[in-house]
Amino acid sequence: MRRATIVVLCGGKSAERLVSLVSARCVASSLDVRRFRVNLIHIGVDNSWAEIAPDRLLGETPERLHRGGAALARLRKKSKRVDPWRLLTSLDAGDCVFPVLHGPMGEDGTMQGLLELTGAAYVGCGVLGSAAAMDKEAAKRIVRSAGLHQVPWTAARGAREASAAARRLGYPVFIKPARMGSSVGVAKVKGPSGIAAAVREALRYDDKVLVEKGIPAREIETAVLGDPWAPKDDPFRLKASACAEIVPNAEFYDYRSKYLDPNGARFLVPAPIPAKTSARVRAVALAAFRALDLYGLSRMDFFLHKKTGEVYFNEANTLPGFTPASMYPRLWRESGLPTGKLVEALIALALRRAAARRRISTRH
Ligand SMILES: Nc1ncnc2c1ncn2[C@@H]1O[C@H](COP(=O)(O)OP(=O)(O)O)[C@@H](O)[C@H]1O
Ligand SMILES: [Mg+2]
Repeated sequence: MRRATIVVLCGGKSAERLVSLVSARCVASSLDVRRFRVNLIHIGVDNSWAEIAPDRLLGETPERLHRGGAALARLRKKSKRVDPWRLLTSLDAGDCVFPVLHGPMGEDGTMQGLLELTGAAYVGCGVLGSAAAMDKEAAKRIVRSAGLHQVPWTAARGAREASAAARRLGYPVFIKPARMGSSVGVAKVKGPSGIAAAVREALRYDDKVLVEKGIPAREIETAVLGDPWAPKDDPFRLKASACAEIVPNAEFYDYRSKYLDPNGARFLVPAPIPAKTSARVRAVALAAFRALDLYGLSRMDFFLHKKTGEVYFNEANTLPGFTPASMYPRLWRESGLPTGKLVEALIALALRRAAARRRISTRH
């Protein structure tokens, strides 16, 4: 039997490019070599695409990959440059691209646009869903229009606007780049004197920031998988996993506690919350997934107010961390779906959408 080629894209231009390497390592090693041939492509910050022997990536430890530098140089050494367009347009039906790219230029619809143009089947959300979920302002507007709750927020383009918003919302506030992830550029600000520096930092990563009311929150996540338009009895119908709770050891779940400090956070799976609350989170996750026009996968993040018990939608991560420790694969493992099977389901979903696309008429 011919093995299907899975083009695993990693790296990219975003500040999360090193996390992407660790995720890609996990995806590549989860693929069944009897069924799939991995074509591992590293995208450099200079936009160059290079084919890397998967063993090279597997030979690096997650810790070394997180530091970049020497590990990255080893990966790229003597790698073969490839022409993206040629590669993507040469794939056969049955082949698939898995963009294991987090953040801007990977998770935000831009890469999905390129993949659409080439006609390649690809894992995950399409252009609209990816772009909508990546932009925290757009996502919140859409989710609000679906009647789902969120904490009060305002978008701002500079410190003056952000100060006025913070005064209105009341301190503490969270300042974050509108289109980033992994807590890069996110700060908790307790008073007016902290706004300027926080906005400056957030504006390093985007030209728009979000000012959000800080609430005493427990952080609850669920993993969503499937085809939102599949009928109820379909094996690929949309499902939400059990919920997890993340208890950061820092004041909030910042980059350090996510990736650098091995004791940065505790992960409670399943989340120790009442069954009713868990059911509510999962239902809201499915509703938000549909409202945002997502497809295939997304990790949906919520805040559970410590005092009122209210559930607030925080964000959708359409290409969530996929490292062995990451919540998305972990939640599915806990729900009885090993990572190899999860990756296969994601590929099957991608092929299914590609086949449906091909049936759409381009003439009238
Ligand atoms: N409004 C808020 N109230 C309380 N904590 C928040 C709020 N917004 C963000 N945080 C904290 O900051 C972290 C990162 O913010 P988030 O919006 O999830 O950005 P990212 O996309 O970078 O993960 C959250 O996991 C949480 O710990
Ligand atoms: Mg987050």
